Amino acid sequence: MLIGREYGIQLQTIDSTNTYCKKKEIPEGYWVLAEEQTAGRGRNGKEWLSQGEEKIFFSAKFTLNAAIFSIPLLSLFVGSAVLKTLIEHFPNLNNKLMLKWPNDLCLENKKVSGILIESEYMDAKSIFIAGIGINLYGKDKLSTSEYVSETALGKGFKMNLIYAMIRFLNEIEFILQDTNSVQKELDWIYQKSFLQNKKIETIQNGEKFSGIVIGYDRNGFLIVKKEDGVTVPIMDTGPDFKVV
Ligand code: BTN
Repeated sequence: MLIGREYGIQLQTIDSTNTYCKKKEIPEGYWVLAEEQTAGRGRNGKEWLSQGEEKIFFSAKFTLNAAIFSIPLLSLFVGSAVLKTLIEHFPNLNNKLMLKWPNDLCLENKKVSGILIESEYMDAKSIFIAGIGINLYGKDKLSTSEYVSETALGKGFKMNLIYAMIRFLNEIEFILQDTNSVQKELDWIYQKSFLQNKKIETIQNGEKFSGIVIGYDRNGFLIVKKEDGVTVPIMDTGPDFKVV
């Protein structure tokens, strides 16, 4: 089920757009955009405090018509949809914006977007809520202000950006239909990845190891090539994950 471009609501203040979308009465395909969040939620139970003066708090509720996919893959593809949206609106950031696995977007080491995917099992199907926070512009704290002028964010700009984001989010369902498209998308994401060719260190199943990041697999896991040549898929960044 695709997200409806005109099928959503703009609110001034809300606790969390994800919490709002989770309500039973909110139908699939619906989205919500808020100007402010009072109890924004981030990954791993953290709170989400958005910096900057121009912010986006957006969530959409949808199902996916795709036989096989994993949540880490969906999460990676949502990150890629947000990245494409920002590149389309700020072409000058094309080579500067990076995807920091699993799904943060960074600009010169500062986080400009965070994504929280939640899933629920309702009426015998999985329903997803993609929550997207973007720091579009901020004079003090964000490096985006060096590239994005305040005047560029004129009236209507935000809604155009939201419509583009809905378009890119809806493409995910089509990408997932076909293994070649999935691979093409994974390759594009790798090209835009902060971790591309980086040496990382982590602990998995009690084993500490290091290796070079060489790509993503079809589950959205990071593929790391260890010094002995063996490749290992990593599902998520734990507390022990670091770039060395
Ligand atoms: C993270 O990087 O930890 C994820 C942050 C996700 C924040 C967004 S803002 C819109 C939506 N509503 C929430 O409460 N969280 C997500």
